[in-house]
Amino acid sequence: MIRRTILALSLAVCGSAFAQVAVTIDTAKPGPVIDKNVYGQFAEHLGTGIYEGMWVGPDSKIPNTKGWRKDVVGALKELRVPLVRWPGGCFADEYHWKDGIGPRSKRPVKVNTNWGNVTEDNAVGTHEFFDLAELLGAQVYINGNLGTGSVQEMSEWIEYMTSPSKSTLAELRRKNGRDKPWKVDFFAVGNEMWGCGGNMNPEHYANLYKNTTTFIRAPKEFKPQIIASGGHTDDVKWADVLTREVKNDMAGVSFHYYTIPTGKWEVKGAATGFPESQWFSTMQNTLRMDKFIRDNKAVMDKNDPEKKVGLYVDEWGTWYDVEPGTNAGFLYQQNSLRDAVVAALNFNIFHEHADRVRMTNIAQMVNVLQAMILTDKTRMVLTPTYHAFKMYVPFQDATSLPVSLENNTAYSAGTQAVPQVSASAARAKDGKVYLALVNTDPNKATEVTVNVGGAAGNSATKFTGQVLTSAKMDAHNTFDAPNAVKPAAYSAQAAGGKLTVQLPAKSVIVGAVE
Ligand code: AHR
Repeated sequence: MIRRTILALSLAVCGSAFAQVAVTIDTAKPGPVIDKNVYGQFAEHLGTGIYEGMWVGPDSKIPNTKGWRKDVVGALKELRVPLVRWPGGCFADEYHWKDGIGPRSKRPVKVNTNWGNVTEDNAVGTHEFFDLAELLGAQVYINGNLGTGSVQEMSEWIEYMTSPSKSTLAELRRKNGRDKPWKVDFFAVGNEMWGCGGNMNPEHYANLYKNTTTFIRAPKEFKPQIIASGGHTDDVKWADVLTREVKNDMAGVSFHYYTIPTGKWEVKGAATGFPESQWFSTMQNTLRMDKFIRDNKAVMDKNDPEKKVGLYVDEWGTWYDVEPGTNAGFLYQQNSLRDAVVAALNFNIFHEHADRVRMTNIAQMVNVLQAMILTDKTRMVLTPTYHAFKMYVPFQDATSLPVSLENNTAYSAGTQAVPQVSASAARAKDGKVYLALVNTDPNKATEVTVNVGGAAGNSATKFTGQVLTSAKMDAHNTFDAPNAVKPAAYSAQAAGGKLTVQLPAKSVIVGAVE
């Protein structure tokens, strides 16, 4: 409902600290289903994202199942992770799948040239990744190598994974421990082809994409949905060219956008200890996601009016300066309440565009960028972003409901302003109506009156859910204080026919409205 919110900003400047914002959920006009894959995750061979953070190997003293940390997997399962994208990112276009099969002790050792030039011993390969997906109960999204690979290499990887035949590659899979073919849910042809994937232009890539997909052959029940590598930030050319040029075998076009507080790659801003000006710019920059999606949708609607092709935001999240003293190539950053607010704002945007945005993957799962979990040897800590993901679980596969906001106030800094309240609603699979509210203002609480039913009248009597907030903008969890930021129960009852939710400053509230 961002657009409506912005329209209501004229009230911003004169709004009092406790102006009542009115949210109306129209249950009579259900919208598209919010695909559970909107809550997808991304795990790249980068820093300690996989090695240490999730994979410790079967011989580790850290409790593990088939090499994957039990504590981390257990926590991730609570998020009902619908799918995991692997092995990159930029890493994908230098990854050769045959390096990651067979006995681990015999696998070639490579250098991870994208991320810190550290050694990559290929301990995690195709079989290990499928183990992780199975442990999580998640679908798999494998990113193929177009940059330094070949059509043949991608075609053979698909055959290795999905062939029920007696071909040499299928037999090799059996020899390596997997008899039955795997279902590969999604497969992408390269990553960021405009940059680390090969510095191409979209026209050239469109031809390579068609060439590749011609040779991705698999039995119907195991065949992946194929994803084309698209644009980023305000560039819509990739979505335009791809949806014009490619007529078959393209389930989605990817799109990447990272939220950087300063908007500058050279000095991005710190994850904690930042000034309020960077809280504001982070809100402002993350809300740009809405316009980028709208612009991509506009070109896609022109070329693909039947909406056959999805816009998959398969990398998004905050990107800060790395924590002092850590390897610059590892992209390790703390995660604060600000990140949880960013996540919730993006969820609300994705819900609004559920007709096209059918998958997103936050970057990244563990220890990298906007992570769910941070680890330190045997210890792990859940981040505020983790809690935001958990609070939004009811939105997975829920039916979106239109929400209108009246009297929305603004959070302003100087001459600039962003809407104070962002709202999203859906009817979940349990039949209940869920409402998510976000307050971008780090200083002012607000009251939100909730109406359910739209023109048919108001039936809202009760709100039951959770609130995530804290006194400090950069409140975060550490290994010594792991519960500094965590959700608390929140409920409200209607009084005098009016249901009012008290939305604290810098907060996220999600709950069921009855
Ligand atoms: O997520 C980190 C990196 O960001 C990915 O490898 C790349 O695709 C993007 O530029």
